[in-house]
Amino acid sequence: MSKTIIISNRLPLQINIENDNLEVTPSVGGLATGLKSFHKEGDSIWIGWSGMPEEEIPEHLIEDVKIKAREEDCVAVNLTNDEIDGFYYGFSNRTVWPLFHYFMEYTESDDWYWETYKRVNQKYAEEVLKHYEEGDHIWVHDYQLLLVPNMIREHAPEAIIGFFNHIPFPSYEVFRTLPWREEVLEGVLGADLIGFHTYDYERHFLSSVSRILRHQVDFNEITLPDRIVKVDSFPMGIDYDKFEKAALNHFENTAEDKSELQRRLDHHLKATPDAKLILSLDRLDYTKGIANRLRAFEFFLDKYPEFIEKVRLVMLAVPSRSNVPQYQRLKREIDELVGRINGKFSTVSWTPIWYFYRSMPFENLIDLYTSCDIALLTPIRDGMNLVAKEYVATRTDHTGVLILSEMAGAAHEMNEAILINPNNFDQMAKALKQAFEMPREEQIERNKMLQKRLKRYSVEKWAQDFMKALRNTEDNRQAFEASRISPAVLNDLKESYQKAKSRILFLDYDGTLVNFTDKPENASPDEELKVLISELINQENTEVVLISGRDKDTLGNWWQETPVELISEHGTWVRKINGEWQLSENVKNDWMEAVRPVIENFVDRTPGTFIEEKNYSLAWHFRKADPQLGERRANELSNVLKELISNRGLSVLEGNKVLEIKSSGVNKGKSASKKIGGRDFDFIFALGDDWTDEYMFKELPEKAITVKVGIKQTSARYYVEDTKKVRNLLRAFAGKE
Ligand code: ADP
Ligand code: G6P
Repeated sequence: MSKTIIISNRLPLQINIENDNLEVTPSVGGLATGLKSFHKEGDSIWIGWSGMPEEEIPEHLIEDVKIKAREEDCVAVNLTNDEIDGFYYGFSNRTVWPLFHYFMEYTESDDWYWETYKRVNQKYAEEVLKHYEEGDHIWVHDYQLLLVPNMIREHAPEAIIGFFNHIPFPSYEVFRTLPWREEVLEGVLGADLIGFHTYDYERHFLSSVSRILRHQVDFNEITLPDRIVKVDSFPMGIDYDKFEKAALNHFENTAEDKSELQRRLDHHLKATPDAKLILSLDRLDYTKGIANRLRAFEFFLDKYPEFIEKVRLVMLAVPSRSNVPQYQRLKREIDELVGRINGKFSTVSWTPIWYFYRSMPFENLIDLYTSCDIALLTPIRDGMNLVAKEYVATRTDHTGVLILSEMAGAAHEMNEAILINPNNFDQMAKALKQAFEMPREEQIERNKMLQKRLKRYSVEKWAQDFMKALRNTEDNRQAFEASRISPAVLNDLKESYQKAKSRILFLDYDGTLVNFTDKPENASPDEELKVLISELINQENTEVVLISGRDKDTLGNWWQETPVELISEHGTWVRKINGEWQLSENVKNDWMEAVRPVIENFVDRTPGTFIEEKNYSLAWHFRKADPQLGERRANELSNVLKELISNRGLSVLEGNKVLEIKSSGVNKGKSASKKIGGRDFDFIFALGDDWTDEYMFKELPEKAITVKVGIKQTSARYYVEDTKKVRNLLRAFAGKE
């Protein structure tokens, strides 16, 4: 039976040692609390850090830690103090966390952090591989483990790997400042499916992939040389039933059952029945906007003094990452702000802020959620914010008002909340007033709509949707029609090649025999390739034709010394071995004068593009342009050209990052068929990477062995991943492998 392997930096449980005994407490944070219920119900194991430095676990308790973890279907990864410093406090929380939340001034670039991050990611990947069996689904979580997907893929190429990013993904302009941006993207791209909370994070990621790695991105699919990676948004929900039930049970509590906190809250509510409680609850993190929230609360009391003694801010800040200087500074800032505001407004019988800096058990969270009339959650930037959803779910009588920052991922799904900009104090003050005065019916109406959505898109549904999409990527792999040239297929092809009495090979050049380069003139053949082609030609009864879109002069010069037949410009020219170039069709070039200025206009407007002028065709290259702008302009130009050239016997070919205008009736398929000319070859072979090669794949006789380079839609029978694999294949034909 296949299982799911969940892997995240932290386990959902935190193990501590108190008086030589192991103590287990739940971990705080959206990832751990959200995924816990999915883990409990399914057939899964969860790999992550126990939360303790390895050095602090006495030898005689090491086994017990493992057992405690195993009881919860978890596998504890041990991290040393050094690893925790460089990986967790370092690269994860001083580089990625601030950068991805747009706090560029907090972002540190330190080589040692990066080296440790890589090492620890490797450690996690190795732990996964120890437990991995074919057919398992691997689900990697969050920004601490960005390199893990590819590290797993390197050792288990067939593995089905999902990755979910629980924090924002910043815009390309911000992400590009990271010194290790390529490595980070390549690490994540080891996954088959990459998930984000919102569409904005998804499109930022896609834009970085296409601009930095220059991979082909079509809608939400990224084409890598050997795989297709899918990217999608899945907004994480909460365990709705758990919160609803907890709230209902809470109201059943007798006076004795109530917590100390609830008694104090009750006391306050009884003493001041008109007063309202405002809840503020987060990890103490600079992204949560706690300081601004306090300032906005001060602004509110200044602007609307009628609320003095009528409201109280109940603020719970859960200690977090306290080794990082920014968190320490924030703690001091909050302490001072609370002190100052309380000092400024307190009366004999009233303090405006109740401040708790500690972690609280689940039942106290429920006490707070159910007792507070307003929740004020104002992150500067937040991947999702589950607290907002939990607050709404626990309001079983449908009252209560949520004021939520529009910068939280959750805001996209919570339109019925009062959405605010966390940098606008006046707006926040007005929102508090509006919340205070909101009629009960309106509260109920808004809450019901919010609850309905939260109930439907619970964390269970979220996890199911992600896993379903992950399984679909597996189906996509199988549905891919062309077969990969695996070692076994390669052997078969080699055998048929050797058995054949007469052979002909049509080989495309750019993107097939050599990689693309920034400038077309830089792609000349290397020595190894020339030797390889000569060796093929020297075999008996073997014809080799290089069939390319290139202009005849460049191609001719490059292959001056090697006696190989050339077809250039998609079939416009043919040069037999040791022969002269001959025009193969009745083609014209008198149309060029009219068409060139139109393309020039696109070159002027689209930086990075240029015209390649051939004898009988014009090509507009946009490989170096901004990818999105390039695609858009290519579409536009294609339409303009089609209009311009209609009835002129011309056609527009759409190649790999190139548009080419040439005489109709000339294409690689026609030229290849003409070359065969009714002769009966035992082994017909065609190899090419782009759209123009599809003509060959379609027109050659059915028995032809047609091979596409790269994973793309194709009518070829086989595919190979890249030009390196092409060389292996040709070496095998040459008897070299
Ligand atoms: P983040 O993931 O940035 O911490 P979220 O709001 O998405 O922010 O998630 C916080 C999670 O931590 C919520 O599920 C909340 O219930 C939980 N949590 C917050 N405070 C505590 C606490 N004191 N004890 C246990 N869980 C807590
Ligand atoms: C956020 C992150 C989680 C992290 C949590 C708590 O929710 O997305 O990956 O676990 O904060 O932070 P901590 O550093 O304590 O694990």
